[in-house]
Amino acid sequence: MAIMSWIRTFPLMQYFMTYTQDVFTNILKTGPVPQHVAFVMDGNRRFARMRKMEVKEGHSAGFESLAHILEMCYQVGIKVVTVYAFSIENFKRPPVEVDALMEIARTKLLQMIHHGDLADRFGISIRILGQRKMIPADVLAVIDQSMEMTKNNKTAILNICFPYTSRDDIACSMQDIVELAEKKQLSPEDIDMIDEKTMEDHMFTKDCPPLDILVRTSGVERFSDFMLWQGHQDCTVEFVDCLWPDFDPWRFAQILLRWGRNKALELKGKEIESDMKAV
Ligand code: FPP
Ligand code: MG
Repeated sequence: MAIMSWIRTFPLMQYFMTYTQDVFTNILKTGPVPQHVAFVMDGNRRFARMRKMEVKEGHSAGFESLAHILEMCYQVGIKVVTVYAFSIENFKRPPVEVDALMEIARTKLLQMIHHGDLADRFGISIRILGQRKMIPADVLAVIDQSMEMTKNNKTAILNICFPYTSRDDIACSMQDIVELAEKKQLSPEDIDMIDEKTMEDHMFTKDCPPLDILVRTSGVERFSDFMLWQGHQDCTVEFVDCLWPDFDPWRFAQILLRWGRNKALELKGKEIESDMKAV
């Protein structure tokens, strides 16, 4: 167990940690804050294996970690969080694991939209990005309920990618555009002008700000077909050498501090440049 999680098991320490986390959150809020952060929550099965736990317990521990991280994200003022909760490729895993992941999604979504829980507290609109047709009916019903119940929340967004791959996102965007053209809803001039912006306007993340930080845990340095389109030239990629259930707000705070410091330097540089041009 990560040292921070272990320390949290003591009630007084828990109070102290919450207090220091609040102080730290306020410090982070004084600098530039990213608008959009995405996570590849990798390492749940290794976490379970190392503790001789069942795979589903590893994924449940992964959700607990996500809940802490989300809390910090929205407290700091991050507007959009996008998480890779289930890849289309994950359907190739043993049925028992796929069922467990579906059940976690169903129960945790219900929990998140409960009055006074995460969505309510931070004004989060929950969105599910991916292939609806691959989702079992009972899970889809809860997904629709959670999107419907939170659709008027305007403070922040939680994109849950489920079942998702980036290449599918890009292909769906293309299909949308072709369909519009077939229905004659795009003029020949529009068709001639199809560009990055047109593609962007049809991606699952269409109304989200540009992705500022992509974090992947577990020491694996791959994108695994996630946010390939959204990972533009100014997106910071952070590969973290710890398993997702061990990824706590303190580790994330270091990433935010680093990003905030670099952003502040970049803004300062631009300011000096424009001052020099003005002279
Ligand atoms: C990757 O670790 C993790 C997943 C495939 C599932 C992540 C899902 C959650 C944390 C639950 C999210 C639920 C909601 C409702 C948002 P892995 O299984 O690849 O582990 P490994 O790399 O150690 O094999
Ligand atoms: Mg993995």
